[in-house]
Amino acid sequence: MADDGHTGAKGVRLSGVSRSFGSLKAVDHIDLDIPSGSFFSLLGPSGCGKSTTLRIISGFESPDTGRVFIGEEDVTDLQARRRPTAMVFQNYALFPHMTVGENVAYGLKVRNMSREEVKERVMDALRRVDMADFLKTPVTSLSGGQQQRTALARAVAIEPEVILFDEPLSNLDVALRHQTRAELKALQHRLGLTSIYVTHDQEEAMALSDQIAVMRAGQIVQTGTPRDLYQAPNTAFVASFLGGSNIIDDPGLILKLAGKGVSTGGVLSIRPEHIGVGREGGMKADVVAHQFLGMQTSLTIDIEGVRLEARIPGDQEIPTEAFVTVEASREVADDR
Ligand SMILES: Nc1ncnc2c1ncn2[C@@H]1O[C@H](COP(=O)(O)OP(=O)(O)OP(=O)(O)O)[C@@H](O)[C@H]1O
Ligand SMILES: [Mg+2]
Repeated sequence: MADDGHTGAKGVRLSGVSRSFGSLKAVDHIDLDIPSGSFFSLLGPSGCGKSTTLRIISGFESPDTGRVFIGEEDVTDLQARRRPTAMVFQNYALFPHMTVGENVAYGLKVRNMSREEVKERVMDALRRVDMADFLKTPVTSLSGGQQQRTALARAVAIEPEVILFDEPLSNLDVALRHQTRAELKALQHRLGLTSIYVTHDQEEAMALSDQIAVMRAGQIVQTGTPRDLYQAPNTAFVASFLGGSNIIDDPGLILKLAGKGVSTGGVLSIRPEHIGVGREGGMKADVVAHQFLGMQTSLTIDIEGVRLEARIPGDQEIPTEAFVTVEASREVADDR
C-alpha cells in the first residue's frame, strides 16, 4: 500500500439521538463523542441498533430526535451525499457489471469531477489498497478479500473525513479476516481518518479500536478503551460480551471463594483465566466438561452445583477433580 494520504479528519458527535421503527426504539437517546482521527467501534449483539446509528451518521437515516455533528458542523439536516463521510458495507455493495476502476470512479463521477482528476484519484486509491493491477478487472472475478479492498478504495477515493464501516470483514474466512484487519488498521493509521466501525465481534473490536462503545437494546452501556472495558466492565452484560466471564450472584459461594482477589459484594465477574486450577489449596471442584482450544483448554468446573469456566494451558493434562482459587474478580451491576 502506498503512503502519504489525505489527512483531513473531523470528530463526530451525537447528542440525544433516537430513532424508532413503530414501537421499537432502535436507537434510544445516544450521546457519543468520537475524537478526530480515532478508530471507534460500536459493538453489540444483533439488533442492538449499531447499523441504524451508523446510517444516522452517514445521513442514510434521519433521527427522530437529537443532533449529529461532524467537526463543528451540525449535519443533521444535510443530505448523505453532502456529508464528508464514506461507507464500507458488509456485502461491499459493488456494481457487478463494472470493473474495479469503474466502481471506484463511480462516486467521483457523481460528484462532477473532471476525467483527469477521476483517473488520478482512482489510481491513487487502488494503490493504497494494493489493487492497482486490477483496474480493468470485472469485480465479479475478484476474491472476497479483493472485493473488500475495492470497496475500501471506493470509500477512500472520495477523500472523506469520516469513514464508516458496517461489519466489513464478516464475509471473509478467518485467516483473511485477520490479515485484512491488520491492513485496515495500518491504512487507517496512515490516512488518519476518523473511523467508525460496527461489529458484533468483540475480538475484532478489541484488536482494531482506540475506543469501543458497547451497545445493547438501542443504548450505550459502556464506552472505553479495549483494555478499560476488558479489565473494568461495569455490568454483567459487558463482562460477558467482551471476552466472556463467569457471573456469580450466589452470596454463599462468593463468601466461600473469598480470598485474595475476591471482593464480597453483590454480583461478581470472574474471568476464566483468573480461576486457578491446582492439585491442592482452595475449593474442591469437579471438572465436568472440557474443550481443547489449542493454546488452552477450557474446563467446565462444578463447585457445589455452580458451573464455572476455567482455563488451563493446552499442553496440560485434563484433571477430573481440582482445587480452585480465584486470582481476581470484579463487582458488576446485574443487568442480565
Ligand atoms: N428500516 C427499518 N424498519 C423497521 N425496523 C428496522 C429498520 N431498520 C432497523 N430496524 C430494527 O431496528 C433494530 C436495530 O436494527 P440495526 O440494523 O440497527 O441493528 P444492528 O445492531 O445493526 O444488528 P445486526 O448486528 O444484526 O446487523 C432491529 O430490531 C431492526 O429490526
Ligand atoms: Mg447491522
